[in-house]
Amino acid sequence: MDTRLSCEIISQSFEAQPTEAGQRVKLYLCIRQAILERRLGPGTALPPTRILAAELGLGRNTVVRAYDQLVVEGYLDSAVGSGTFVSDAIGRTRVPQRPKRMVGTRREGLSRRGNRIASNASSSRVQTGAFMPGFPDVVHFPFATWRRLLAKHTRYEERHLAQYGYGGYGPLKSVIADYLRATRMMSCSPQQILIVNGSHQALDLCARMLCDPGDAVWMEDPGYWGARNVLAATDVNVVPIPVDANGIAPREEDWDRPPRMIFVSPSSQYPMGAVLSLERRLKLLEHAEKHRTWIIEDDYDNEIRYHARPVASLFGLSSSQRVIYVGTFSKVMYTGLRLAYLVVPEDLVEAFTIGNAELYREGRMQEQAALAEFIEAGHFTAHIRRMRGIYQERRDRLKAIMESRLGGLVSIPDSLAGLHLPVRFLQPLDDADLASQAIHNGVIFRPLSMYAIDPKNRQLGMNLGFAAVPVEKMDAPADTIVRLIEASLRGGGSRRG
Ligand SMILES: Cc1ncc(COP(=O)(O)O)c(C=O)c1O
Repeated sequence: MDTRLSCEIISQSFEAQPTEAGQRVKLYLCIRQAILERRLGPGTALPPTRILAAELGLGRNTVVRAYDQLVVEGYLDSAVGSGTFVSDAIGRTRVPQRPKRMVGTRREGLSRRGNRIASNASSSRVQTGAFMPGFPDVVHFPFATWRRLLAKHTRYEERHLAQYGYGGYGPLKSVIADYLRATRMMSCSPQQILIVNGSHQALDLCARMLCDPGDAVWMEDPGYWGARNVLAATDVNVVPIPVDANGIAPREEDWDRPPRMIFVSPSSQYPMGAVLSLERRLKLLEHAEKHRTWIIEDDYDNEIRYHARPVASLFGLSSSQRVIYVGTFSKVMYTGLRLAYLVVPEDLVEAFTIGNAELYREGRMQEQAALAEFIEAGHFTAHIRRMRGIYQERRDRLKAIMESRLGGLVSIPDSLAGLHLPVRFLQPLDDADLASQAIHNGVIFRPLSMYAIDPKNRQLGMNLGFAAVPVEKMDAPADTIVRLIEASLRGGGSRRG
């Protein structure tokens, strides 16, 4: 191969970069890749540096330095006076093949569990836009205050906070205990609180500490898919229990085979929004005590209520210490904060604290210290109060649009959900198909059918997140949804039997 050809091979894959360092690295990578793929075989002469530099519009030094690096790493040999060649040693070595795609759908080599997790993914990479559920509005979050508090706790003077945490930052646990006493009628000591990186981790810890593989765990159906996936990954047996307008509705005979654990969202059933009735709460607690069943109470957005005070917790009602409470800062502050907490019965404190430290190695004490001060200084409740008004206006507007434009085609269940609006179809419309059509039109919603485990419990409709959509930006995406529903009713193309 003459040097004109090798010059051409290198130029084909070279793209100009904005800096000299970038150009050098790019050139190095192009040549290395050409060698590894044998487009430049062993013994091939590389173009003289002056010629390659002119060809690519580079400084000669850039080319010299890229060649030098490849010589040091053994890809090239260089002899004074006779030029630079691809190393012969490369010809005797098995060259690692670069995978065709860096990001792919490779599944072989995974465990059965890993395969299950990868195949059942429901998390979305898209986290903004009308009407993606699950996300609060961060535009109004007091970031300046938050930044000041973070800065204060990330100074040398506070260096003890740079260590591992053990159960969480004490003063944060104290302010959370006070807050829960005031807002949820919960009486617990700070020692019963464990700080974790989000509700998913809280549930994972509960499942690992309280259940063995194969144990039955009841879940609301439809219910939160994230919890379902976390539970499934711990190899428990997830048993779907239907929900109605009063929340989770196990039949009396279901208790003939009592579960080891129950995952519920009693303050606002996710996604349908029902509040678990007092009668059902008492029944659940009675059975839990009798059968020694653990109840995990997911209280994900209880702070955000419009027409009613936050609902008292199941934990607070239980005298038998069978309930583990999970609260999160994701919905009130922001999801990427990844701070949540568990409140565990007194006799589980030690085991859970050890389990948490052994499994996840806690940290983030600086953020926890900032959060403790944020709450103590009143910023947290002020933010909630402010956002409640903003969210209520958005919720009322979206509900009014849906009722006026789709009245007769949908029903909107009575719901205490703070950040999303469940809308049920009264016609057998294919909600998953409509959701994918909506995405192509720039609008996102979650089809209600995706939350079902047992097809018998499937509800058709939309879970619409309104929290991050200003009132003045609601009409256009809502109009898109209405048009798609009308078109599919006219065409009969998007119906489910
Ligand atoms: C019902 C429910 N519980 C829990 C969570 C997760 O909360 P975290 O961000 O604390 O993991 C979500 C997130 O969307 C949710 O919808």
